[in-house]
Amino acid sequence: MPIKNRHDFGALVSEARIWLEQAELLGVRELPTLASPSVSEFERVVDSSADSGGRETLEMVREDLGDCQRCPLCDHRKKIVFGVGNPRARLVLVGEAPGRQEDLQGEPFVGEAGRLLDRILLSMGTCREDVYICNVQKCRPPGNRDPEPEEIAACEPFLQRQLAALKPDIILALGRFSAQTLLRNDTPISRLRGNWYSYQGLPLMPTYHPAYLLRNPAGKREVWEDVKQVMQRLRADE
Ligand code: URA
Repeated sequence: MPIKNRHDFGALVSEARIWLEQAELLGVRELPTLASPSVSEFERVVDSSADSGGRETLEMVREDLGDCQRCPLCDHRKKIVFGVGNPRARLVLVGEAPGRQEDLQGEPFVGEAGRLLDRILLSMGTCREDVYICNVQKCRPPGNRDPEPEEIAACEPFLQRQLAALKPDIILALGRFSAQTLLRNDTPISRLRGNWYSYQGLPLMPTYHPAYLLRNPAGKREVWEDVKQVMQRLRADE
């Protein structure tokens, strides 16, 4: 925000105060230094006309998904929740599946867990518009139950194609279901989190799901440790 007068300065201070309060809520005791964008990052953001290098685009994946009837979840859903955010995002967050609010609005993480996720992003110095957010499952399982293997098998190819189109620098897997599905193992999330893995050749960091943090606020400290690693790696790759 360009500071032209006393009012602008006041607004900036208020914004900074909110930011710091959010970070404190997350247990932040030290702040990252946000590196200014490198020339390559600047070009990547500014040059929106650059094509996808022959890769399938997100639009193509969405079009192929269509009015998906590939698994029984289509019988109950209101809206397909494909994903939102910056198609050039360096960071992609992958959750489990839409809940009630997401099913109604067609957008991931718009409920209470989503508001906490927004605060986590804020504490990382970023926001929903700069990253890309999606789920393993694109349709809400009734009663928010865990998706069945046949439902995962029908949907995961679309996530794989989304990630291939996005080609982010880092994937942040939110919660047990996302991490275990992507990594194809059943190790508890408490052991997976905080460590680097690879998915389709892309670095993947598992962390706790924001809905878990709503029930277990003490886990925010570990999430902060995990996202600090993510921020460090993003900065190192600039
Ligand atoms: N939980 C998820 O895993 N994804 C959403 O989109 C909402 C809640």
